[in-house]
Amino acid sequence: MPSLLVLNGPNLNLLGTRQPEIYGASTLPEIEAMCRDRAAERGYETECRQSNHEGTLVDAIHDARTRHAGIVLNAGAYTHSSIALRDAISSVGLPVIELHLSNIHAREEFRHRSLIAPVALGQICGFGPQGYLLAIDALAAHLSAEES
Ligand code: DQA
Repeated sequence: MPSLLVLNGPNLNLLGTRQPEIYGASTLPEIEAMCRDRAAERGYETECRQSNHEGTLVDAIHDARTRHAGIVLNAGAYTHSSIALRDAISSVGLPVIELHLSNIHAREEFRHRSLIAPVALGQICGFGPQGYLLAIDALAAHLSAEES
């Protein structure tokens, strides 16, 4: 079965207790379970990874090149700062959906700029955990359109 990578960056391991008024009450394991179920319905296995370290996220994107058909990426704060993550995405050539739980465009100005967006297939933000499911649907639809 083809596989998708759901990759979460810094501080997302604290979901459920981290600023629930912004990020909601769901924990990362709960979100990951939802992702696995939705991807399975679309015919994909899912690997879920989280790291607070930029280099580990770069490594995960590199590893995905040979193991996954596409990536759902919530890069957390690295979205707004990491040229290394952006270059990793450009280097592997896999479709990446950028995902944020909150609507980054409605928050502080420094969150409005994403270094990831120009190299992503698209960006989904503001829909809470549901956004991960929208991202999996979008990725699966993109991959099946590519096949045909
Ligand atoms: C986030 C938005 C980022 O600005 C923030 O740094 C995060 C989470 C989101 O999912 O809404 O850590 O990516």
